[in-house]
Amino acid sequence: MKITVIGVGHVGLVTVACLADLGHEVVGVDDNQSRVDSLRQGVVPFYEPGLPELTKAGVEAGLVTFTTEPAEALDGAEVAFICVGTPARADGSPDLSAVQAVAATVAKHATAPLVVAEKSTVPVQTGRRIAQALALESRARGLSVDHEVVSNPEFLKEGTALEDTLRPDRIVVGADSQRAHAVMRRVYEPLLDRHRCPYVATDVRTAELIKHASNAFLATKISFINAVARVCELAGADVWQVADAMGHDARIGRAFLNAGLGYGGSCFPKDVEAFVHIAAEMGYDFGMLRETQRINREAKSWPLRQLRRMLWNLSGKQIAILGVAFKPQTDDIRDAPALEVIDALLAEGAVVRLHDPVALGHLRERYPDAIFCDDAEDALRGAHGVIVCTEWDEYRSIAPDQLQELLEYPVVVDARGIWDPDKLTAAGLEVASIGRPTP
Ligand SMILES: NC(=O)c1ccc[n+]([C@@H]2O[C@H](COP(=O)([O-])OP(=O)(O)OC[C@H]3O[C@@H](n4cnc5c(N)ncnc54)[C@H](O)[C@@H]3O)[C@@H](O)[C@H]2O)c1
Repeated sequence: MKITVIGVGHVGLVTVACLADLGHEVVGVDDNQSRVDSLRQGVVPFYEPGLPELTKAGVEAGLVTFTTEPAEALDGAEVAFICVGTPARADGSPDLSAVQAVAATVAKHATAPLVVAEKSTVPVQTGRRIAQALALESRARGLSVDHEVVSNPEFLKEGTALEDTLRPDRIVVGADSQRAHAVMRRVYEPLLDRHRCPYVATDVRTAELIKHASNAFLATKISFINAVARVCELAGADVWQVADAMGHDARIGRAFLNAGLGYGGSCFPKDVEAFVHIAAEMGYDFGMLRETQRINREAKSWPLRQLRRMLWNLSGKQIAILGVAFKPQTDDIRDAPALEVIDALLAEGAVVRLHDPVALGHLRERYPDAIFCDDAEDALRGAHGVIVCTEWDEYRSIAPDQLQELLEYPVVVDARGIWDPDKLTAAGLEVASIGRPTP
């Protein structure tokens, strides 16, 4: 099939590469000229394991091209995926202006009836709005093209995006006609054959809601375990053992039960906020999600409370930050919890020594006065304390003796639970370990 993907950011580019891997001919279109230029030169502008190689394979097979010209991209396409950003506005509602702009562009340039698939995360009833925008623009141009809008929410996780897309747990498609479902089934046929993954067919509104409900549920799981972590700290219990034991219960599952700094990234914070907002707009107060958000805010303040307890005043102290990306295996710092920790440290007059294996490049402008460190040892050397903000594997192998030797003051705040607090204490370090009693 010939397919157009509009917006080649994290979701869009993964979609392009994976659809080409399934044998489709895919054009990625983006209004960011420098992004398209870099993709044409074979450079993927963000970190996602395996994506540069898969994109290159698609280009070399003659199945993938990139352009800034929607007319060229839409010519002869059967399906157009909308993959543009849907950031939060100041009031928490999602900013859907890019989605509307894309609808107008599609109506303007599509020469034949298209299936327009929303992959961007949007609130329920956006499909109806897109259909309306398509119809208005078509009518304004005197065209009578009958496009169909479907919802095909994306569930990929940054860091494992290819695996998630090529071996999905399920494919959700919301469409209001059998014809549109038939087209979308053809898009995913090779995957359905290969992995027998379920194709969940719903109407458009239900599919839109599935995405917000899924992300809100996962965020709530994270907040739940963070609340349990606070109780464990007070009770002298161990949240990691609690989570492991809970996880053995198939009804609960172990995933997303890691206590820490709370959820972050480009999706959960804005999606939970958007879900609360759209529910309120329709007349339902989703109080449970507001509590999820409150616990998440509180989780981000945990490291500084521990540091103040151990170091008293933070002004003038050098603090090593291990990890800034919102999770390992990505360089994405959008809404990363570490940013709030760093901002709070700087506001108290501390000096931050930053290390992250891949995300530092995005931080130089935001933190001109920070000390950027090439490796974790460099960050730790001479620091008055360390906070582990992202659980990169390479930090796990740092031994207690090394910490003791490198740090000026032996103060460790392990906000991701990567080190054994008993071993740290035995090595003479002062330790705050998330969800565990203070020794
Ligand atoms: N990143 C994730 O892990 C993830 C996972 C699931 C769903 N989503 C959702 O997918 C959507 C996209 O997320 P992302 O992380 O890929 O965003 P992104 O910011 O990385 O990419 C968006 C791209 O769209 C382009 N764009 C914006 N307006 C455009 C227009 N009018 N015409 C053409 N291109 C345009 C931008 O230049 C950019 O390249 C969001 O709604 C997000 O919530 C993201």
